[in-house]
Amino acid sequence: MRSLIIFTFVTILAFPVFAKKKGAPPMAAGANGDRTCAASKCHASYDLNSGDAKIFIEGLPEKYTANEVYEITLQLEQKRGKLWGFQATVADEEGMRVGKIISMEGQNTQLLPEEKYKSRTNRQYITHTVSGIRGSEKEKSPAWKIQWQAPDTSLVSPSFYFAFNVGNGNKKKTGDHVYTRVVTIAPDTE
Ligand code: HEM
Repeated sequence: MRSLIIFTFVTILAFPVFAKKKGAPPMAAGANGDRTCAASKCHASYDLNSGDAKIFIEGLPEKYTANEVYEITLQLEQKRGKLWGFQATVADEEGMRVGKIISMEGQNTQLLPEEKYKSRTNRQYITHTVSGIRGSEKEKSPAWKIQWQAPDTSLVSPSFYFAFNVGNGNKKKTGDHVYTRVVTIAPDTE
């Protein structure tokens, strides 16, 4: 009985660490010089964007205001889709980070630790968590919510780079469809 109590206690403590652990590897959102999930040796069973998923990217303004925080919701729908993933980053034309991506508590997303890739770029990367690869409805991904805080000067036109993976649930990198989308917004100079 005592060992069962100890085991339960350790598992409850360890769960957040394990759940947070996975997610798509950094620099796979298709931004300047990045790979995508469909990089060779990864989810390369089908050509990029060759599947028939519906992709919803909501909440991005056409024009942004300095310092404003925008809430972006991402969701996918695809027949026979079982497990779902995404990665996103924001950059200007030179590939430099713009503003701040914020991971919202309880929204199945995680910011990848910058020390993992900061030698190569100052961009931030946000991706799904392990608990964030299962949708609540059949053939629909979770609705991942992320926030982006605009920089304190609205001079550049940032591009949001999104990579999505519709997994067939075989817990392997095969048989999955990968999609990329880029959304560029303008500064509100009024
Ligand atoms: C943003 C890009 C990516 C996303 C959204 C993503 C998402 C996912 C998802 C949802 C699964 C489960 C698939 C299933 O069971 O059907 C998965 C598994 C996997 N992915 Fe990715 N992935 C990405 C990039 C990559 C890259 C670049 C690699 C290779 C370096 C990779 C290697 C793997 C491997 C080996 C698995 C199998 C099991 C595992 O380790 O979890 N992925 N990925």
